[in-house]
Amino acid sequence: MSITPPTASRITVPQLRARKGGVPIVSLTAYSAPIAKLLDPHCDLLLVGDSVGMVIYGFSSTLPVTLDMMIAHGAAVVRGSSHAAVVVDLPFGSYQESPAQAFRSAARVLSETGACSVKLEGGEEMAPTISFLVERGIPVCAHIGLMPQTTNAVGGYPVAGRADADAARLMADAKAVSEAGAFAVVIEKTFEPLARAITDLVPIPTIGIGASAGCDGQVLVSDDILGIFSDFTPKFVKRYAELGEAIGDAAEQYAKDVRARVFPGAGHVFGKK
Ligand code: KIV
Repeated sequence: MSITPPTASRITVPQLRARKGGVPIVSLTAYSAPIAKLLDPHCDLLLVGDSVGMVIYGFSSTLPVTLDMMIAHGAAVVRGSSHAAVVVDLPFGSYQESPAQAFRSAARVLSETGACSVKLEGGEEMAPTISFLVERGIPVCAHIGLMPQTTNAVGGYPVAGRADADAARLMADAKAVSEAGAFAVVIEKTFEPLARAITDLVPIPTIGIGASAGCDGQVLVSDDILGIFSDFTPKFVKRYAELGEAIGDAAEQYAKDVRARVFPGAGHVFGKK
């Protein structure tokens, strides 16, 4: 199986769906056009996650994120990319009430951003909503395991599926969202044998975050791997760069230059002509 080269047209939902058991799906979050442009050639899927609330807006959870915020960031990521499929999270409160509410929110996301799909949190309980959307032309990526939008109900961000009953529930969730028509399912923060069992169970790609290499793909928050969002680094994150340090160093050097009147130099000012 070959990966669509960066110069070809944008990766589609059926192409992602067909990656089950093949070359792992590479996904990172993106929230802005310039970062999307940098990540795009290397990713199959750019996820406009509601983690935007914590990473960009400084909220302590994803709950305050609104549909309008997701649409603004989703549109920016679509503008900044041309290769990866763009998937936008439905934020808390924009889909849980009813399938009809979910349809209205998802339709706005697709029509106002140009993204190809929405992602929503939930297992068996969201299966009717997933079917409702899929039957009406809205591709859905499901999200099970740790679901950050349920942080108040579960009391934080625990590892999912540790107890036998929870593991069985997670398997049932994966089966339900797959049968409802989701084209892929994100599995967040669970242990390896369970992630592998789910991956073997469902015919759609599993995309892991803190769920081991046993999944059909991986997603991480880009600011985490770049070392920008460094308040807290989850165990499952590997830092590939220390851009936070680089940004601090650049700001420090700029401040020194301004205070010493070294910047702006002769090359940065306009002549009269
Ligand atoms: O909001 C997000 O960024 C996500 C991923 C981390 C899976 O849902």
